[in-house]
Amino acid sequence: MGVDGTVAAERVAVLDFGGQYAQLIARRVRECHVYCELLAGDTPPERLRSGGFAAVILSGGPSSVYGADAPFAHPGLWSCGLPLLGICYGQQLLAHALGGRVEPADHGEYGGAELEVVAAEGVLAGLPQHMPVWMSHGDRVLSPPPGFAVLGRTATTPVAAMGSAARRLYGVQFHPEVAHTPAGMQVLRNFLHGVCGLRGSWSMGRYAEAASAALAAEVGDGRAIVALSGGVDSSVATALVYRALGDRVTAIYVDHGLQRAGEVEEVTAGFAGAFPGLRFVHVSAADRFLAALRGVTDPEEKRRTIGRTFIEVFEQEAARLGPVDFLVQGTIYPDVIESGAAAGAATIKTHHNVGGLPERMRLRLLEPLRPLFKDEVRTLGEELGLPPELVWRQPFPGPGLAIRILGEVTEARLELLRRADAVVREELGPHGLGREIWQGFAVLPGARTVGVMGDGRSYGELVAVRAIASLDGMTADWARLPHEVLARLSARLVNEVPGVNRVVYDITSKPPATIEWE
Ligand code: XMP
Repeated sequence: MGVDGTVAAERVAVLDFGGQYAQLIARRVRECHVYCELLAGDTPPERLRSGGFAAVILSGGPSSVYGADAPFAHPGLWSCGLPLLGICYGQQLLAHALGGRVEPADHGEYGGAELEVVAAEGVLAGLPQHMPVWMSHGDRVLSPPPGFAVLGRTATTPVAAMGSAARRLYGVQFHPEVAHTPAGMQVLRNFLHGVCGLRGSWSMGRYAEAASAALAAEVGDGRAIVALSGGVDSSVATALVYRALGDRVTAIYVDHGLQRAGEVEEVTAGFAGAFPGLRFVHVSAADRFLAALRGVTDPEEKRRTIGRTFIEVFEQEAARLGPVDFLVQGTIYPDVIESGAAAGAATIKTHHNVGGLPERMRLRLLEPLRPLFKDEVRTLGEELGLPPELVWRQPFPGPGLAIRILGEVTEARLELLRRADAVVREELGPHGLGREIWQGFAVLPGARTVGVMGDGRSYGELVAVRAIASLDGMTADWARLPHEVLARLSARLVNEVPGVNRVVYDITSKPPATIEWE
């Protein structure tokens, strides 16, 4: 079994042509219990073979095959013998490369459409004659390549699905990965199980087993440390590496004093309860962080200060443990994608994690969660026995509340924000909003406003509430909270948090804003 818990020949590559749904395709494939990874659109077939990939899915993308900068697949892909499914732009690439006719768009087809199934076979096997599908394209395929059959069409797209059973090459113009195509999962299952013959034996339990065996083999007799921040990713990484290494790993939890109310206690008690044998070092360094942050108001400077102090404190603690060979980090797939995409791109924010530590301390880096998405990390956490309060906590930034206090961070403002944040989390939790809302929190913009409380004038702090829905934190929309919830939030924040006299709700999506305010 491989490190990812797959048996040989049960891995699928999703080649990414820049479509907004490429990650979603990967998730759907894994929901079919087939392990899959996103790779660059022009990945050569030799890499696919050497990586053990048994099938390929081409994602959609914003380009036209006739565009000047159109991304193309590697020319050897079509004849390399691997079964292939092209989705949207992926189908157009397939048609264009093998001699079909792709028509540049006068107008596109966006949103719901009805697919007429011309031949219920291949990826459309077992589907009804008419079914709703989701479209989002400009160009369309007018005729399939020689040897391909038209499997489906819509009123405006003559080739909405096509295939060659002999070559195991298929294309669909619609998006089977989105919920607006109700039979989409059936299309993917047809491809994975029917066309490719994959059994679908991947599960998070297998992942846990295989990843822990791989960690044990890699570390051998060595010793490891893990930087536990209390966030979901580092908690799950800690649980996994503890399973693999037992007392040869030490978790170092640096409490920077920028945590939410009750958080430090929750994390320490959660770990002590779930893994009584875990070597756990809790470092209280709040004073040191506050001192370093004194007078710092620039957002980037704040992040750098926290990152630098974190490294200093962590290094000091690690030195007390004696020789260590490995550092475990909870990097997950979206982090990998974001940093890849960020090569040469503008730095929006300097993300604070333990970057810089491995080189400085001459440690080898282990990232056992690297191929996983956030929701998969949570499933793995449950599998490993982490308490639900830790597994289901909201993502929380490494620099903590410091980047939600605009201007200087002081103990008094931290305390105020902690109280406000606790109210926001309490109000969002019981409405079932807890799991639907990716993050919901309070921000102190640092503005003071005039109010009237009792019969007197007040001049208090403004609190902003931010609640967002998101799939992966990369894009987000503000949550349409019921008015009653907003009303209660406003009343409770003003009544229960001394010093607050006004509340606003942040109604900006990402982009153009980011989720955090700094
Ligand atoms: P932004 O504000 O960039 O946030 O839209 C996207 C997601 O990342 C979290 N975030 C961080 N996480 N270190 C982290 O570990 C950081 O420095 C950091 N900054 C933002 C943020 O809470 C959101 O979930």
